[in-house]
Amino acid sequence: MKKVFLISLLVFINLAVAQSVQSPSGKIAVNFKLAANGQPSYSVNYKNKPAVLESALGIKLKDKPALDANFDILDSKTTSFNESWKPVLGEQSSIKNHYNELTVSLLTKETKVKMNIIFRVFDEGVAFRYDFPKQAELNYFIISDEITQFNLTENNKVFWLPGDFDSNEYEYNETRFSEIDNSKINMNNGIGVKSIPGKYTVQTPLMMKAPSGVYLNIFEAAVVNYPVMHLNADVTNYKLKAELVPNAIGDKAYLQTPCVSPWRTIMISDDARDIVASKMILNLNEPSKIEDPSWIKPMKYVGIWWEMHVGKSTWDYAGSQNATNFADAPKASGKHGATTENTKRYIDFAAKNGFDGVLVEGWNVGWEDWNGNWKEEVFDFTTPYPDFDIAALSAYAKEKNVKMIMHHETSGSVSNYERHLDRAFDLMKKYDYPAVKSGYVGRIIPRGEFHDGQSMVNHFNFVVKRAADYKIMINSHESSRPTGVGRTYPNYIAAEAARGNEFNAWSVGNPPAHETILPFTRQLGGPMDYTPGIFEVKMSYYDKNKTEQVHTTLAKQLALYVTMYSPLQMAADLLENYEKYPDAFQFIKDVETDWDESKYLEAEPGDYVTVARKTKGKETWFLGAITDENARTSEVKLDFLTPGKKYKATVYADAANAHWKNNPIAYQIKTMTVTSKSKLKLILAAGGGTAVSFEPIL
Ligand code: NOJ
Ligand code: CA
Repeated sequence: MKKVFLISLLVFINLAVAQSVQSPSGKIAVNFKLAANGQPSYSVNYKNKPAVLESALGIKLKDKPALDANFDILDSKTTSFNESWKPVLGEQSSIKNHYNELTVSLLTKETKVKMNIIFRVFDEGVAFRYDFPKQAELNYFIISDEITQFNLTENNKVFWLPGDFDSNEYEYNETRFSEIDNSKINMNNGIGVKSIPGKYTVQTPLMMKAPSGVYLNIFEAAVVNYPVMHLNADVTNYKLKAELVPNAIGDKAYLQTPCVSPWRTIMISDDARDIVASKMILNLNEPSKIEDPSWIKPMKYVGIWWEMHVGKSTWDYAGSQNATNFADAPKASGKHGATTENTKRYIDFAAKNGFDGVLVEGWNVGWEDWNGNWKEEVFDFTTPYPDFDIAALSAYAKEKNVKMIMHHETSGSVSNYERHLDRAFDLMKKYDYPAVKSGYVGRIIPRGEFHDGQSMVNHFNFVVKRAADYKIMINSHESSRPTGVGRTYPNYIAAEAARGNEFNAWSVGNPPAHETILPFTRQLGGPMDYTPGIFEVKMSYYDKNKTEQVHTTLAKQLALYVTMYSPLQMAADLLENYEKYPDAFQFIKDVETDWDESKYLEAEPGDYVTVARKTKGKETWFLGAITDENARTSEVKLDFLTPGKKYKATVYADAANAHWKNNPIAYQIKTMTVTSKSKLKLILAAGGGTAVSFEPIL
């Protein structure tokens, strides 16, 4: 008795203080600790076992004492929150936001600076952020480093991208944590942190699987007025540390109190389906700021796009990009894709097949000089090429009840885009374009800034906000990856921000496992404009010397419409290729893009994903199943269907001899009658997939 008393007295004298908070189910617990020297740290337990070991918390400031030690606890409080909200568009029509929160208010001993650390513990993970209240002791400040650590327990399997500050368009590397090594990866679009052997920078979301079978995912939510967080991996000690993307002079973030950091998130579960199904990232963002979202609509679209990627036509009028300055009045090459005539063909096709929109790239002057960004004023976003009659086309589209989708490639010349933005949006309103695909190819102007730095994060958020004023929807390419800000601005309907299907047209492409990893990584922050639906899989179809190809079967291209959630979905292939396979194309015509419910039936990062989704406001369901390079057979229960109802299931499957490489186009379509008691056998080829539509039989 005496001994116990003595020990607790000693702890008290040492001033180490601990606080903890649990998830609503009790499975996850976060422990906050303030060490004797006033240094804050946290650790996380999952099902009573350590999931994240004691890890430091804190911020380093430029020209001011660091906020990483010498703290006292001023106050701490625990609260609970349990509410549901309805996203404008989504994987489900109602989202539950249920967590317990611990706020620890800290005060530095000498300088009397206040900083709060807020923890939220959900059933599928933990989030925490730094909160800087308004105070005379800390008004304006510059963050020079964030020291947040994530210390892992084991040598996990990791799906990582190299820490390029400009691009996420890489293949995932699947290795043990101890084998993370950037040194052989050619970071072709940016620079990232110079690799120090043994300490490599990787991007977030970072998906991992521990040898014990527990899945962990480290990411962030609500990145607003702050740079993107990459992670520095200490490969021998299984430790990760925040690596904030710097600006051109090496500073990380300029802030003024009151302000907050983004949420740092750790998802944890022994069932991988909990990670892909999680809405934690969205929940950590502010509710919608758009009062009347009636103009925000899902869209299936076709476009003048893949034809440029396969080399059939060009973005620029003169057909020789970078060769001619448009001011010298070049002649039309005959290869220009965005002509009035060609656009009409796409509008007709969209109208005939029930698509909502038509994207046209290469419609505006500037593509002569777009690549390499030597010219700051490369585009003005308002001047069409002479062979693109914007007025006539918008009238034609209106007549056919099709919406035009605008394209703004900025070539990374961001200050130029901001200068022209309002006029560009005015032009869109004048011609009734409800959505724009933006692009940020190349290095950023102002020179020295990175795509993932604070000022670019602010740019991407600003464009979405300003677009909302105009009732315009945004689909950004080459932006920093979304972190759930689409909850706050639901007009941010999609983004690329990962390696899209386009890479299959002109590079080594995306390995068959790629699309089984994206739902665990990039897609946690918001929908991706992946551009599926390629039927002519091999590029030798266009040019016999080409060896590039899409690394999937045709059936898997169909399944991607279901496995890769997005309210904006392109049917990306050439129109004539759809006309050749009308029975397979039927699935793309039928598949929906906005859902009441989504049920992940099977999921394993890097291996497979099977999901069933119920159409918003309708009784139809769609199922998508995909696999990596390994063929796969499984059986799923159809118990998601309404009991007592009969459905006609149309199954679009790989043919028995299909294979992504040797025989990618071979598919078979079967119909059958099923109920909620039925089971469905899925037989997926190597790199294959299955897509199913379920229609109630009345
Ligand atoms: C890259 C985008 O991802 C692609 O979709 C687009 O066609 C080109 N940039 C040109 O803007
Ligand atoms: Ca891209």
